[in-house]
Amino acid sequence: MKTDMKKLESAELKIGKKILNLDVYEGALEERCIDISKLRQETGYITYDPGFGNTGIASSDITFVDGEKGILLHRGYQIEDLAANCTFIEVAYLLIFGKLPNQEERLAFSASLNANSMLHEDMRQFFSNYPEHSHPMAVLSAMVVSLSTFYPEIEDESESIHLTVTRLLSKMRTIAAFSYKKSIGEPVRQPSWKYRYCENFLSMMFKSPVNNYQIDPIVERALNLFLVLHADHEQNCSTTVARAVCSSGANLYASIASGVCALWGPLHGGANQGVIEMLEKILAGGIKPSDIIEAAKRKDSKLRLMGFGHRVYKTYDPRAKLAKQSCVDLLNHLGMQDDPLLDIAMELEQRALTDDYFIEKHLYPNVDFYTGIAYRAMGIPKNMFTVMFAIGRLPGWIAHWLEMKADREQRIVRPRQIYVGKNVLPFVKIENR
Ligand code: SDX
Repeated sequence: MKTDMKKLESAELKIGKKILNLDVYEGALEERCIDISKLRQETGYITYDPGFGNTGIASSDITFVDGEKGILLHRGYQIEDLAANCTFIEVAYLLIFGKLPNQEERLAFSASLNANSMLHEDMRQFFSNYPEHSHPMAVLSAMVVSLSTFYPEIEDESESIHLTVTRLLSKMRTIAAFSYKKSIGEPVRQPSWKYRYCENFLSMMFKSPVNNYQIDPIVERALNLFLVLHADHEQNCSTTVARAVCSSGANLYASIASGVCALWGPLHGGANQGVIEMLEKILAGGIKPSDIIEAAKRKDSKLRLMGFGHRVYKTYDPRAKLAKQSCVDLLNHLGMQDDPLLDIAMELEQRALTDDYFIEKHLYPNVDFYTGIAYRAMGIPKNMFTVMFAIGRLPGWIAHWLEMKADREQRIVRPRQIYVGKNVLPFVKIENR
């Protein structure tokens, strides 16, 4: 809210002979904004900013991104420190409750996540009605919004938000694993009290009555890191959608299910699947990486170098650096250091980072460029990669939903437009058309 920002000298806007003084504010880390909330009322004008690249929709103390310097903070902590020292559950606690948990809080949170990790038996039946080829993002969004039918307390807020949030964090991971088992025609595997969050996910995904799958601690640690790297990212597309749905007064499950749908797009969270499909196409077709780079530069080509570019980062995404190192370490550990997809990815990166087109447009690897290679090495199928992104992003969506609910300055999201259609037309009855 404005009260959280420092007021600076106002800005002048001259429209014709009229000069309007607009308040200017500064945030905690020197970001500045011009308050235009009275612009239309005082001038009849609106601003025009497709994609909201220049528009701040809120003040927030959850995450800070400096796209020029490649800085990412969650509640003030650097992503590098969180990635090196925290589990995903600790980062989820930080984002949602605003502080890193102490031992007692962490144990209580884990116990609550465990207690809420199973799905209602009637909900488990839903999976048998989806076709096997269903995209798991469709299943995930449908199942998340369906949670509101099993837990209607969300509507009258008659239960603690702590329980609602913990239930969602735990069940979304179970839904993801169940949708995978359904897609391969195997019986689902229930979560176990014996496992931590990521161990339980790996167990539910890969254990079965006929295999002796052992949870590899290196794989579990890599999975924790990847989920941490996806945990939140300011007002990205899916978070903005979740906040917009929240602004209408819709419940948490509806808001999160909307965020899942927004994340699905290939320009957003779907890019991690797009990267692998691009790498597999290059490998299968014997295409030269240099040809892909040239194609991605052509104005007329729809092809993008997937996993490259970012609305905010105009330098290397700090998450991509951490993901790349973790991906290389994991593949070395698994004896997959010769994975041809990794070689192709590294060659694409090396070529792009030395190419004028990418340099001039400040296009660098983003969080999606290497994560899919690691998920693939873990045995996760590519149509589940964006589900992994959603599991990671869930605490961020929840934190923003809670912040939006508490922000007294926020109103229902309803942008304006400039109409360029027809003026009043005489109505023509159907018999005369
Ligand atoms: C995520 O917002 C977030 O924080 C998102 C995210 C998060 O954590 O929530 O970080 C997660 O979504 C990462 C992005 C994943 N998407 C991809 O990797 C898809 C490929 N990248 C792009 O499509 C693109 O870079 C976006 C969507 C990420 C950003 O798009 P913008 O900011 O709208 O930029 P743009 O499309 O206007 O591109 C600017 C220029 C254009 O050229 P010109 O028209 O100026 O000549 O750069 C070009 C683009 O053609 N360009 C690319 C490119 N990305 C941008 N050219 C080739 N390959 C690319 N990948």
